[in-house]
Amino acid sequence: MQLEGNVAVVTGASSGIGRTIAETFVREGGKVAICDINMDGAEKVVAEIRAKGGDAMAVEMDVTDEDAVNRGVDQVAERYGRIDTMVSNAGIQIVHPIEEFPYAEFRKLVTIHLDGSFLLTKACVKHMYPRKSGSLIYMGSVHSHEPSALKTAYVAAKHGILGLSRVMAKEGAKHGVRSNTICPGFVKTPLVEKQIPEQAQSLGISEEDVVNKIMLGETVDQEFTTMQDVADVALFLAGFKSNALTGQSIVPSHGWYMA
Ligand SMILES: NC(=O)c1ccc[n+]([C@@H]2O[C@H](COP(=O)([O-])OP(=O)(O)OC[C@H]3O[C@@H](n4cnc5c(N)ncnc54)[C@H](O)[C@@H]3O)[C@@H](O)[C@H]2O)c1
Repeated sequence: MQLEGNVAVVTGASSGIGRTIAETFVREGGKVAICDINMDGAEKVVAEIRAKGGDAMAVEMDVTDEDAVNRGVDQVAERYGRIDTMVSNAGIQIVHPIEEFPYAEFRKLVTIHLDGSFLLTKACVKHMYPRKSGSLIYMGSVHSHEPSALKTAYVAAKHGILGLSRVMAKEGAKHGVRSNTICPGFVKTPLVEKQIPEQAQSLGISEEDVVNKIMLGETVDQEFTTMQDVADVALFLAGFKSNALTGQSIVPSHGWYMA
């Protein structure tokens, strides 16, 4: 048990990577707040975790709503008495060439990823700083380091998250709080499944070419990263015994980006 007694707030935990991170933390003895805009999904994940004897709570949270974020994080601290780990993971994807990218969609994506990470961090450190301990984990992407066509909003937001995480390594240090970013390559989740036909249409190529040439073309072995790969990195960062590892980006991507 690597996370016995550890209390984690995980956003976007109703689905995909966030859900697998939550389940992995609970398996290792952690207590997890499943925070999501999709409350039905969150309740379902909590019910499944509890059915296996784990401890989790569902929290309705739109990460772009400051009051909802503050209320939700305070609710978790009240219920479990502390917050040890933050995983800022909620996200969406929208792809268009810039000349067709509606500004409203650009703002929506950036606000969820970047403003959401800012608001969640601000709400969590309030509970971490007085205890002189905490681990901030951000969900970046290979796109925190590398660009891809059609992804102005996503790449800009993910580069921004890396900057936010690095600032938090500096600001959090004197409060015993470390801050790191996980930067996965392509992982088959609902978010990615949706992009395959969209990119095929925008780029005028087959779905097979989107997968083999665009998504996995730069990997060393043409393999998708898995949700469990990403959750294992999150577990490592949450359970790390000291604050030596801070300000870093860890890139599970089958060698797509070599940090
Ligand atoms: N799938 C990949 O290939 C991949 C690669 C690198 C990084 N990521 C990142 O991992 C994170 C999770 O992605 P995923 O692939 O698991 O996607 P997903 O669509 O399976 O899950 C995203 C979750 O975020 C929630 N969400 C969306 N908007 C929200 C909001 N405003 N407030 C609260 N919750 C909200 C959704 O309801 C959903 O449960 C994202 O930040 C994504 O950018 C994904």
